[in-house]
Amino acid sequence: MQKVKYDDRFVSEWVGEAKLGRLREDAAAAENLLAAKKGPGNDFLGWLELPAAITAQQQRAIKDKAEQVRATSDILIAIGIGGSYLGARAAIEFLSTTFEERRAPRVLFAGHQVNSDYLHDMIELIADRRVTINVISKSGTTTEPGIAFRVLRQFMEKKYGKSEAAKRIIATTDPKRGALRSLADTEGYATFSIAPDIGGRFSVLSPVGLFPIAVAGIDIEALVAGAREAMGFCSGANLDTNMSARYAAVRNILFRQGKTMEVMAGCNPYLHFVCEWWKQLAGESEGKDQTGIFPAAVDYTTDLHSLGQWMQEGLRNVFETFMYVKKSRSTVTIPRFDNDSDELNYLAGKSFEEVNEQAYLGTVLAHVDGGVPAASIMLEDRSEETLGQLFYFFEKAIALSGYLLRVNPFDQPGVEAYKKNMFALLNKPGSEKRRDELRQRLEKLGLCS
Ligand code: PA5
Repeated sequence: MQKVKYDDRFVSEWVGEAKLGRLREDAAAAENLLAAKKGPGNDFLGWLELPAAITAQQQRAIKDKAEQVRATSDILIAIGIGGSYLGARAAIEFLSTTFEERRAPRVLFAGHQVNSDYLHDMIELIADRRVTINVISKSGTTTEPGIAFRVLRQFMEKKYGKSEAAKRIIATTDPKRGALRSLADTEGYATFSIAPDIGGRFSVLSPVGLFPIAVAGIDIEALVAGAREAMGFCSGANLDTNMSARYAAVRNILFRQGKTMEVMAGCNPYLHFVCEWWKQLAGESEGKDQTGIFPAAVDYTTDLHSLGQWMQEGLRNVFETFMYVKKSRSTVTIPRFDNDSDELNYLAGKSFEEVNEQAYLGTVLAHVDGGVPAASIMLEDRSEETLGQLFYFFEKAIALSGYLLRVNPFDQPGVEAYKKNMFALLNKPGSEKRRDELRQRLEKLGLCS
């Protein structure tokens, strides 16, 4: 069953059949380029067939290891950043029970920022718990997870001794290359491999995402099955049947009209990290060659009391995509009080979902009236199948969207610039010339210590 649907009825004022018609050929060409594996970045298309290509045996191996961790650990720390972090976090936050205290085992994340207090507090929390670590890095050389892993590895070796610690560390990395692969081989860590043709932000359905997701107790086979189903309704050269192509085409038309920013509006708190994952997927794939839609995200109704003002009346360079979950897992209704001093009895007996639905519809209408084209992605429920479909829908759409913008959606050359500067400023051997240049610039501003 198709559990993810894209609805662009409210953008017809801006997009319309005539404009969409002009993009039908372009979208078909992009789809054909992707399918024929002849477009830019075509050596990074392993994700395209992954939901069908991943074998039952591979999924079993991930589940078996996850079961072992679940039996022997209170906490799994997943260390990674970017595509080696956001997919697992999105799935776990979308599908798990609300309060972390009720999750067993808990999956915590590290290596996705640089902060002493965070690591210090984490180590205090895990000191007397049973811990396993999953360090995830395709390149094996990324600084943020690298330094977090140093600290947590030291913690593990002190807590368990070197040999027991090695049994509690699992590395997910390139099958052959990189510093993490060599370390795992030397130390005897269990490993999962990331296929060389799958880039970080397209890797949620590989062991990068699937292993921590499985440790959290989520049914990864259902997640993959959902993605496999989406391969059907997200393929083909016809914009009326290929939902990813349709979303990509609508985005492209709006972008050409000066709507340079897309706001993903999650109308459900469990969607927060799905939006974070989407932001990375879209931003890193499209933002290059001085083009690309800027991906932003808001949580409704929370942000209707902060950014809602901007969305209603701010600069009109924006379009919005609402994400709405139709069915909740439970129903809480609003009680009636004899004393209606807060004047809310008119809502008595209604569920929170009934209120949220009217808030969603009211907001779409208000934003459209305020000049913001607004489409919607409707999700059936908070299930593995639905999320698997959504992951694949977005991956395919953003790949097509990149081709429509004439960029390579599968590289990220721009992320090197900050790294080069950071390495130089930290005195990495070999970067002395850049270090001196940067220091001179900082000194002029009084910023050099
Ligand atoms: O999408 C990407 O390729 C990046 O966001 C990477 O996932 C991120 O930089 C982490 O890289 P690595 O897995 O090599 O540590």
